[in-house]
Amino acid sequence: MTVDHSPAWIALNTHADSVRDKHLTEMFAEDTQRFEKFCFSAAHCLTDFSKQRITEDTLQLLIDLAAQQQLPQRIEALFSGEKVNPSENRPALHTALRQPKELPLLVDGNDISTEIHASLERMEVLVDQIHNGQWRGYDGSPIKNVVNIGVGGSDLGPLMTCRALGQFAPEHIRDIEVHFVSSMDGSQLARILNHIDPASTLFIVSSKSFTTIDTLTNANTAREWLVDNSGLPIELISQHHFIAITASPNKAATWGIPEKNQLHFWDWTGGRYSMWSVIGMAIALQTGNENFRQFLAGAHKMDVHFRSAPLGENLPVLLAMIGIWNINFLDIHAHAVLPYDGRLEHVPAYLEQLEMESNGKSVTLQGDKLNYATCPILWGEVGPNAQHAFYQLLHQGTESVMCDFIAPAIRYQDQGEDLQAQHQLALANCLAQSRLLALGDSVLDDADNAPAHKRYRGNQPSTTIMFDTLNPESLGALIAMYEHKVYVQSVIWEINPFDQWGVELGKHVATSLLDQFTEQASSDTDCSTKGLIQYIQRQRKESNDEG
Ligand code: F6P
Repeated sequence: MTVDHSPAWIALNTHADSVRDKHLTEMFAEDTQRFEKFCFSAAHCLTDFSKQRITEDTLQLLIDLAAQQQLPQRIEALFSGEKVNPSENRPALHTALRQPKELPLLVDGNDISTEIHASLERMEVLVDQIHNGQWRGYDGSPIKNVVNIGVGGSDLGPLMTCRALGQFAPEHIRDIEVHFVSSMDGSQLARILNHIDPASTLFIVSSKSFTTIDTLTNANTAREWLVDNSGLPIELISQHHFIAITASPNKAATWGIPEKNQLHFWDWTGGRYSMWSVIGMAIALQTGNENFRQFLAGAHKMDVHFRSAPLGENLPVLLAMIGIWNINFLDIHAHAVLPYDGRLEHVPAYLEQLEMESNGKSVTLQGDKLNYATCPILWGEVGPNAQHAFYQLLHQGTESVMCDFIAPAIRYQDQGEDLQAQHQLALANCLAQSRLLALGDSVLDDADNAPAHKRYRGNQPSTTIMFDTLNPESLGALIAMYEHKVYVQSVIWEINPFDQWGVELGKHVATSLLDQFTEQASSDTDCSTKGLIQYIQRQRKESNDEG
């Protein structure tokens, strides 16, 4: 029996019939205690679900569904290293990466905690060497620029976190600049290479597989640039200017990065769950080893909460189950993530990968086709800027969209009143928008007299997530909360959140098309693709003839 035919799902469907037509204005009018009832706090985070289209019965039925799907057992399976990723026959142990050293974790008889901390400590030594100026470029210069070359999970997490926590860098490491290069077209790399000095630049090639063409192409270009600028052989350049972070040491060695310049992690760390491993080196370089440890500690706090709190008070569980309610029972398939703090500008892109690469699936763990929706389309933007871009659609478009508003309660405590006032302004806008989305123009006295094009229908559900201040611990907890939310939803939908087979075929097809740019377009290529290849070939020929 699939979950959509189960008793708990059917009960929710029946319940949804009585809630679907209810407006949030009615819900707030009927129950003035909604905030007290639907607001929960743990591990630095406060989550206010009162602007979701739920009642107390909804929550209870959602918890029944979670219990029916044996969620507590599945949470235990995740933490204890069971093979929760069956299509790749492995566990998903990102929670182990942030577990304190003194807690052992036996997987297949090995204490992986010892290995994890040895790897982390080795990373810290390298970070210290770079910060202290002991790591030198080919002419003896200390390192001033670090370029992380990676893509997907080997880029988005470190980039998001560096941008969020950059201000926490202690004074002595501030003269090292950390850059990120991901895109295979070379535009980011070309821009950076134009204004950095080769002798004082270190490249970190971050790739779990060490086969990702995007990353290897950028790394090749970076190495050629160094060889050309230094006049030195590749081996020498690799020793001074390249570090590999990978779960495939042999491939990194074959590419040319010596073992002593490598940091390793494991195949049981999913790419999009890897920034807690040595993939987070860019974060430690940007913010310092101690802040990276705090970041891990924050995530661990959320792990402890997720593993131990009752389902009805468990933040990741509630976030996930209310998402399921919106998607599967209220038919909402768009999800906007709206941070009201510019430091969190890369959180939406990070969550796009986390959520959509994990749960963008349409077959069960057993390979059966699903009859119900899974991951919605998720996108987002820094809230105040999005207000001037796509909020029009949120307020007056035809689509139902669920929103996450994210903001720290306090900011700029030591930076003067003007900036504090700017933060207050952002918070006022955050609260105003979620209020309007929920209640529409009923917040006005005379809305009924307004013309149709000025009306706000409201009833768009949202969750507001707040924390006291943005710091390494609170960010770690926030991100771990989303990771666990994704896992909980996968348990309910009975899908595998830890594989990503849907990205593989494109890589193979691209490789075969690449050959056709120089050769004849293959006869079994579709006419659109063939036409476009011929257009590219013609343009290139004309440009070469002119040159
Ligand atoms: O192609 C998708 C993907 O495999 C992601 O899951 C991953 O985060 C990214 O590519 C990068 O992979 P790697 O770290 O192996 O280079």
